[in-house]
Amino acid sequence: MADYLNANYSEEDNFENILRPKTLDEYIGQTAIKENLKIFIEAARKRGQPIDHILLYGPPGLGKTTLATIISNQMDSTMVTVAGPAIAKQLDIIGPLSGLQTGETLFIDEIHRLHKSTEEILYSAMEDFKLEVTVGIGAGAEITKIPLSPFTLIGATTRYGLMSAPLRDRFGIILRLEMYSVEELFQIINRSAGILGIKISTDAAYEIARRTRGTPRIANRLLKRTVDFAEVKGNGEITLDIALMALDALKVDTMGLDDTDRKILEVMIGRFGGKPVGLETLAAATNEDPVTIEDVYEPFLLQQCLIEKTPRGRVPTRAAYEHLGIPINPEGFTQLEI
Ligand code: ADE
Repeated sequence: MADYLNANYSEEDNFENILRPKTLDEYIGQTAIKENLKIFIEAARKRGQPIDHILLYGPPGLGKTTLATIISNQMDSTMVTVAGPAIAKQLDIIGPLSGLQTGETLFIDEIHRLHKSTEEILYSAMEDFKLEVTVGIGAGAEITKIPLSPFTLIGATTRYGLMSAPLRDRFGIILRLEMYSVEELFQIINRSAGILGIKISTDAAYEIARRTRGTPRIANRLLKRTVDFAEVKGNGEITLDIALMALDALKVDTMGLDDTDRKILEVMIGRFGGKPVGLETLAAATNEDPVTIEDVYEPFLLQQCLIEKTPRGRVPTRAAYEHLGIPINPEGFTQLEI
């Protein structure tokens, strides 16, 4: 997977933090979500209560953590962050929960990765602000209820479908983040360039925006890589020529596809003849992790109408053949030999 697609690329975290908007008004895109959140925040503030539990879901890099931080800030709340996969035992979640003061926010990233036993702790914590802990074992075991301070849980997930229904049902506000339009990404790139003190031409910003897979995190990373080219090959300013040179060197094509996207499509067409293919088979054939294909690559290929999901598996569309320049078999999309 290319660096700039990797959601866990920690070297870039600091850079990402500098560029993170701090208020809903600064936040570009996700207009419907923002308008709703403004109402929910204002209503909770008027009531003097913590805002209801919120679940944010959608593909990686669309701003779930940023939104959680903004919500917490705008509620004048302190946010404690835990990562779903890091919670191995019940105590790992009991600790952060019992440490929360009234009105504070607990942010659980990748909440779909929680173990069942941890999830069960959350049910009563979210519903009644109580910890239900089993003390003792066997016939003498007793459930003890420990009160918690009223708090807000914000969960983030890329995999809404993997969450259990009882956990999903305990969120009062469920928001799905959408991919960003080119216009929104253009604005984000200009905002980021302004913060970083970089000069970028309008056509260069548009060119980058067009190729960032609808994702601000990728927009900002491509901007940063383009700055490297501007500094080494130019005078520090990002012109269209510099942007094209950088995008070309990074192998990001005119639709924003990278090597792996193209490999996925090529394998679907060349190896499987355009016939439906299952996720595991596709992962094995492309040498990629199935979760990465499903979370990172597929949402974009689907959004661009380059693949379709059928009950029997994924198939490449006519647009995929056209984009890769592979002739379409007159009897259908199937092209067995390339
Ligand atoms: N940087 C990253 N995501 C952003 C967004 N949605 N709005 C403004 N700046 C951003």
